[in-house]
Amino acid sequence: MLTIKNATKSFGTKKVLDQVSYDFPTGEITVILGPSGGGKTTLLRCISGLENFDSGELLLDNENLTKKKKTDRERSVGVVFQDFQLFPHLNVLENIILAPTMVLKQSKEEAKEKAQELLKLLGLENKEDAYPYELSGGQKQRVAIARALAMGPRVLCYDEPTSALDPDLSGNVAEMILNLKSPNVTQIVVTHDPVFAEKIADQTIRVESV
Ligand SMILES: Nc1ncnc2c1ncn2[C@@H]1O[C@H](COP(=O)(O)OP(=O)(O)OP(=O)(O)O)[C@@H](O)[C@H]1O
Ligand SMILES: [Mg+2]
Repeated sequence: MLTIKNATKSFGTKKVLDQVSYDFPTGEITVILGPSGGGKTTLLRCISGLENFDSGELLLDNENLTKKKKTDRERSVGVVFQDFQLFPHLNVLENIILAPTMVLKQSKEEAKEKAQELLKLLGLENKEDAYPYELSGGQKQRVAIARALAMGPRVLCYDEPTSALDPDLSGNVAEMILNLKSPNVTQIVVTHDPVFAEKIADQTIRVESV
């Protein structure tokens, strides 16, 4: 279970999260809804370690995530960003194996083998050598998901994964997220799309404007 207790976050004088507490059960998909500017992306950034809460607790199975080493935290939590943030100068395979080789110190061969399995799982086995500019939006997104999964995260967060997609592809993403559901993985999905949310959510939480 990922637990946030009494978390607060401000940027300058602007308070974005005010004493929020949430539980994200392991193995479940939690959908986060809420108004634009309500702090959803900020929440994901704080969970992943790109930002930190100003105060409050962030626990993964009762372990304080903020006190972990940076590499352990990076390994524990994966994020698929809204704009994917693929490295434009690296091909698909290189994008996926970069963190496993640099952070987890996997050998190139091992990382490559795992990456190829993930690409197959996500229907991208023929795109290994493609560069991000050669991919469609939906394909880029699946590469971003493969890149996050390559670290074997216990928590996987998605920031508005369907916002750039047509309804068909949205349905595919819902299916993919449901397929990735596993007893050990906690998935957290920010979305504005009620149909998509309905399809995937085990529980829904709302982030309110402060
Ligand atoms: N790095 C930052 N520096 C200053 N202000 C920030 C920063 N990041 C976010 N904010 C502000 O915090 C508030 C919450 O932003 P956030 O991106 O978390 O909202 P959101 O709920 O994801 O909105 P949307 O649905 O539009 O994506 C906004 O007012 C935003 O301008
Ligand atoms: Mg956002």
